Amino acid sequence: MIISSTSDYRKAAQAKLPPFLFHYIDGGSYNEHTLRRNCEDLSSIALKQRVLKNMSDINITTKVFGESFTLPIALSPVGLTGMYSKRGEVQAALAAEQKGIPFTMSTVSVCPIEEVAPKLKRPMWFQLYVLKDRGFMRNVLERAKEAGVSTLVFTVDMPVPGARYRDLHSGMSGPNAAMRRVFQAMRHPDWAFNVGVFGKPHDLGNISTYRGKPTKLEDYIGWLGENFDPSICWKDLEWIRDFWDGPMIIKGILDQQDAKDAVSFGADGIVVSNHGGRQLDGVLSSAKALPYIADAVKGDLKIFVDSGIRSGLDVVRMLALGADCAMLGRSYIYALAAHGRAGVENLLDLYEKEMRVAMTLTGANDISQLNHDSLMHI
Ligand code: FNR
Ligand code: LAC
Repeated sequence: MIISSTSDYRKAAQAKLPPFLFHYIDGGSYNEHTLRRNCEDLSSIALKQRVLKNMSDINITTKVFGESFTLPIALSPVGLTGMYSKRGEVQAALAAEQKGIPFTMSTVSVCPIEEVAPKLKRPMWFQLYVLKDRGFMRNVLERAKEAGVSTLVFTVDMPVPGARYRDLHSGMSGPNAAMRRVFQAMRHPDWAFNVGVFGKPHDLGNISTYRGKPTKLEDYIGWLGENFDPSICWKDLEWIRDFWDGPMIIKGILDQQDAKDAVSFGADGIVVSNHGGRQLDGVLSSAKALPYIADAVKGDLKIFVDSGIRSGLDVVRMLALGADCAMLGRSYIYALAAHGRAGVENLLDLYEKEMRVAMTLTGANDISQLNHDSLMHI
């Protein structure tokens, strides 16, 4: 299969992965309206074409929290990445490092912090949820510090997991799930061999390290529901702010007032995100929410955005809508599932090329020049 875009990687990932994993990645919550709107709203943002402006020198590098980025892109945290490719977190982190951008490890990664961080020269980012077991939270923060993690991404839009209809149908959860998964694996021998057999251990590596025994994946969705804490409020984040010396980003902001509260709290950044349409279906797409949030807090903290970004053009759109940096979720996960580390590296090369074309044809020599005027408002 010839690969030239995220959608090609999506098809390749679908062919390779057992359906329970593909649909867990690909799906959203309820009827997936927000999931679809994330992509549709973003692709309908019209860029303003400008010509004859000497675009021989284009700068797409940036600096965030003192770290250099060769592209204004970071990899978002994605749970179970080590199930989509052999020791997937290691492969994705190495690809990000090779390209000169950060990789964010999820709390619910397969590989633990201690497996990934020592393989990198660039500091890793780490994402944390509020789990009922505060002992785990403190333990994992200590381990992240120890491993040289630079930035903490704190996810606040998942106090409870959203209902994902596809997971019940696919065998990710629901009746006879374990048996269905075995049959699916048998029909995907490449995955079964490389990841299923040689990609072990398959567990929640960060949590197993804390508990001293494997936290298996059999009832992953059930585990999330039982361990996530719906009582969370801003006050619960204060000890984390005090404990964590580095930058702290709040992920899952979709409302102006919440963005202002993040500034008052002392966050260094926010991620404008609806969790890729996986939580509350019906909420605004990131592309629609971003300009309002940027109006309220641009310059007070760094604005990251994810949900729906599938190309370098989309990154340019998000920067023009007010973001300082984009984050990729499914886009890099499809590439990882299809071709491992090389897939993610190639995908990031495609993003870079597409960004350069978009900037050449919008007349922006530097990403700092992308703004409201780069768009057509008709
Ligand atoms: C996620 N996301 C996520 N977010 C987070 O903070 N911690 C996590 O463990 C996960 N896990 C996860 C698993 C899978 C399979 C997906 C697809 C997503 C959300 C992720 O960080 C990001 O917000 C979205 O993926 C962005 O949307 P797009 O780019 O996938 O449309
Ligand atoms: C998800 C969780 C793990 O979106 O964040 O599935």
